Amino acid sequence: MSKLVIRGRCRLHGEVTIGGSKNSSVAIIPAALLGEGTSALDNVPRINDVAVFAEILKDLGAVVTMDGSTMTVAPNGFVSHIAPYDLVRKLRASYYLMGVLLAKFGQAEVGLPGGCDIGPRPVDQHLKGFRALGADVSVEGGVVRLKAKKLVGSPVYLDFPSVGATINIMLAASRAEGTTVIENAAKEPHVVDLANFLNAMGARVQGAGTDVVRIRGVKELRGADHSVIPDDIEADTYMMAAAATGGDVTVKNVITKHLEPVSAKLREAGAIIEENGDYVRVLGPERPKALNVKTLPYPGFPTDAQQPLVAVLSRAEGVSVVQESIYDNRLGYVSELVKMGAKIKVEGKTAIVEGVPRLVGAPVKANDLRAGASLMIAGLSAEGVTEVYGLEIISRGYEMVDEKLRGLGAQVEIRPD
Ligand code: EPU
Repeated sequence: MSKLVIRGRCRLHGEVTIGGSKNSSVAIIPAALLGEGTSALDNVPRINDVAVFAEILKDLGAVVTMDGSTMTVAPNGFVSHIAPYDLVRKLRASYYLMGVLLAKFGQAEVGLPGGCDIGPRPVDQHLKGFRALGADVSVEGGVVRLKAKKLVGSPVYLDFPSVGATINIMLAASRAEGTTVIENAAKEPHVVDLANFLNAMGARVQGAGTDVVRIRGVKELRGADHSVIPDDIEADTYMMAAAATGGDVTVKNVITKHLEPVSAKLREAGAIIEENGDYVRVLGPERPKALNVKTLPYPGFPTDAQQPLVAVLSRAEGVSVVQESIYDNRLGYVSELVKMGAKIKVEGKTAIVEGVPRLVGAPVKANDLRAGASLMIAGLSAEGVTEVYGLEIISRGYEMVDEKLRGLGAQVEIRPD
């Protein structure tokens, strides 16, 4: 167990390069199991969630190697339809094994996934999709069992544009007989990234990035090469850190379109944002301005950036209202910000943030990934020393976070806790 020790009140300055998207990688890595040959995935981030997924694939019989940010997946020995529970429970995205194992073997046994504790995260929409494709579904003792003589394409209407359900149904439908049409599908960038990878493998996916995704099933998929898109949330986090510290940071290797919801809000907060090609430069204000925001599915303001934004608004001039509409319990970290002097009231799923001129360093604990990002940002802008406990949670989604922050002039160290 380790902690991140941050000496605050430092204006971040310089350049930071963003890694590949966590949420794309954790969909694309298991998808590579569906190919008949080897897939080479580039721009894969070196984060804990990816390392756990590599272990799961090896446990299932695949050969996985990682060289820098390139992962190869050779599914030659991939024989088991039973996912190893001790690894599955470590990350939420292990639910993608349901779609993959079902598509490959016509059966799957996958424990209900772990991941961040941000409220109940049911998988009913995933299971509805598998049932529509003809699978028998049972959930017993925390294990999902799926079985289908054959999968047959079908229309599936999602009650909510769930990222996970959209991706899982795409995975299962890629090898079904006939066409599956997902209505009210999620439009997040990683849905599009997965569709591009599946298509490179020989699948026929159309419409990803809109709310109707059509998947015409094919008999066989091959291995393919693919470069994972940059991580929009990692980029958002460094943009927020620049804004919170009155810094001047150029965030490189990004798709600026994916950052628009956050760029728009940071401009409202008084930051200057310059977008150019594959980078974005953020000049933070002396003190941010208050603003109101509600999290929404893409292209709305992302829930994953809600926690980092509240850290920025903690020091804003005026009162901000931040509504979380995706998760039931994604405001738990607020009590940690309050320990640092923030004045925030939580009413249901809304945080009312009365900006204060200064935050003060304190020992705080990251209970989920983006809470960790929020506390890091608060620590960078606070006076004195902040110790963020729970670095292993932050490392699930942020690669080399201490090095990247030091590269921007921050005084940050990892210490055993
Ligand atoms: N939901 C259901 N039933 C379902 C599926 C979802 O009720 O069958 C609900 C969830 O409980 C939640 C909401 O719908 O309240 C959104 O869930 P969604 O399925 O869209 O999210 P997810 O697939 O579980 C992914 C990301 C999250 C990100 C959300 C929203 C991955 C591995 N995770 O989760 O990322 O917050 O989409 O954009 O892609 C993070 O990176 O920190 C993170 C939590």
